[in-house]
Amino acid sequence: DKGNHRHFMLKEIYEQPEVVGHTLGAFVDLTTGRTRLPASASIDFSTVGRMALSACGTGYYAALVGRYYFERYARIACDLDVASEFRYRESPLDDVDLALFVSQSGETADTLASLRHAKAEGVDTAAIVNVDESTIAREAAHVLPTLAGPEIGVASTKAFTCQLMALAALAIRAGVAKGRISPAQELELTRTLQEAPRLVNEAIKLESQIEQLAREMATKSHALFLGRGFSFPLAMEGALKLKEISYIHAEGYAAGELKHGPIALIDDTMPVVVIAPHDRSFEKTASNVQEVAARGGKIILLTDARGAAARIVDEAYTIVLPEMPEILTPIVYAIPLQLLAYHTAVQMGTDVDQPRNLAKSVTVE
Ligand code: M6R
Repeated sequence: DKGNHRHFMLKEIYEQPEVVGHTLGAFVDLTTGRTRLPASASIDFSTVGRMALSACGTGYYAALVGRYYFERYARIACDLDVASEFRYRESPLDDVDLALFVSQSGETADTLASLRHAKAEGVDTAAIVNVDESTIAREAAHVLPTLAGPEIGVASTKAFTCQLMALAALAIRAGVAKGRISPAQELELTRTLQEAPRLVNEAIKLESQIEQLAREMATKSHALFLGRGFSFPLAMEGALKLKEISYIHAEGYAAGELKHGPIALIDDTMPVVVIAPHDRSFEKTASNVQEVAARGGKIILLTDARGAAARIVDEAYTIVLPEMPEILTPIVYAIPLQLLAYHTAVQMGTDVDQPRNLAKSVTVE
């Protein structure tokens, strides 16, 4: 049931404040502010020195954010592969203490095969899954549920932000277990995570502004998405979302890679979506934005009030999000990217919930 919404995708975008909060509750005791694991998992992170993360599509971009979280907050080294590569890569897994898989459906063939591969190699396994009776949930040693509820739209939205929430809370949990995060810091970080539902809701309020922007985007045939640090995976996810449902060719890049090739694509017809909260990467991203502007690229800047006040270029379509601690930016900045893809697709008249050539769950290799 789509409720009052025209598409499942939009309904699912609007559900995010609620389901992100629910998912947080599975990993944080909201009365004490302490991280915890759900009953279906018993991972002792104090003994985990190296992890292997693997997933497909949007789950892979969530895992990419997860790697930044685990490395930053728990100092756990993370290997990361798309599942279709992990299963065949013949990577030695002897020093991997935990293999973590991320899947909305829990049925993705390559992710399941990767899980089985890790088990066969004797590695402890955990899965962040949204469907708790799925094959991956049954077969993983530890199950870490996202509580997004059923996701119908082929383009993943609420499952993604719930995966990010689970990963953020787990990284804090791991940091505490490894003595990298003090009890006081744990409380501060979980208090921050509790701000996510409100901030996601604020981001949703930008919809009409993004709808305007989508009218312009719908006239384009290509788009670039750039981000650094925590925002790099978001650039990839924003591009994936746009291409899946609007069929506009889009590429996501680490902003620092611009000079190594993609800058050749920039002319005055190229929209460049830049994900740039005023975090520790901001100054570096700003100089990349200036390089794009100097070549006539049309900049769409997702930033906050401080980032906007920095006036890094004369002309940019700027979308101002609330200021927030860094750990929350991937979750909150996902929203305008989803809305941009959604409204561009609506403008173009494509089948938003059932885009051509795609299946909700890819159960064959
Ligand atoms: O169910 P899963 O999370 O394992 O699915 C993985 C991908 O197939 C999925 O994320 C796909 O990329 C989505 N269509 C993205 O919007």
